[in-house]
Amino acid sequence: MKIGVFDSGKGGASIAGTLDLLIPGAKIISIDDHANVPYGGRPEEEIISLTDTALQSLLNEGCDVIVIACNTATTVAISTLRERYPEQHFVGIEPMIKPAAAHTKTGRIAVLATPATLRSARYNELKNEWAREVTVLEPDCSSWAEAIEYQREAELPVETVIADLVEKGVDEIVLACTHYHWLVDRIEAAAGPDVEVLEPSDAIKNRIVELLTLSQPKEDEA
Ligand code: DGL
Repeated sequence: MKIGVFDSGKGGASIAGTLDLLIPGAKIISIDDHANVPYGGRPEEEIISLTDTALQSLLNEGCDVIVIACNTATTVAISTLRERYPEQHFVGIEPMIKPAAAHTKTGRIAVLATPATLRSARYNELKNEWAREVTVLEPDCSSWAEAIEYQREAELPVETVIADLVEKGVDEIVLACTHYHWLVDRIEAAAGPDVEVLEPSDAIKNRIVELLTLSQPKEDEA
């Protein structure tokens, strides 16, 4: 099984590493668009065009599935990509608002994401569908992806941001940018044991297995 993984930058490596552990034997081809990262402060049309251009090498590889390991590119570009390349399976990463809203006991959840994700129609659709009954806090993380990409994450006020969310009663934190997965230890330590931090690796693995199982011909049809 050949799985392509794309992110604007080093967020993809965190997902590729997890998929490698979760799907033994899969050939994982990971690419990024380091020259243009971060995507999260760019207009939609530009995100779509950069993602499409960057993906060409994976499309040419004939991957069984391409994982868009980027919330920004998924929420902004995946529907266009599916229209442009109808034969290709894509799995995207969307903010895990549904489980966060289902699990919260305080009725307050936080979504950590790029500005483009928070602005996107898809994210707002998810919020309307699943989180109408809860309060969703969206702290400013606009400088985080770039700092992480260039190994300047030590400068980020992660502990202050998380402490503020906990102080406000948040008990579910959604990591809705794959770059932030590199901060998960700091985020969990700052959030403490009563807060759940959600990231999507297991959900992606299950979706890939489901997609590839559904697309195999059944034995009696072979
Ligand atoms: N890793 C990407 C995400 O999940 C975003 C980083 C960027 O701004 O390029 O949204």
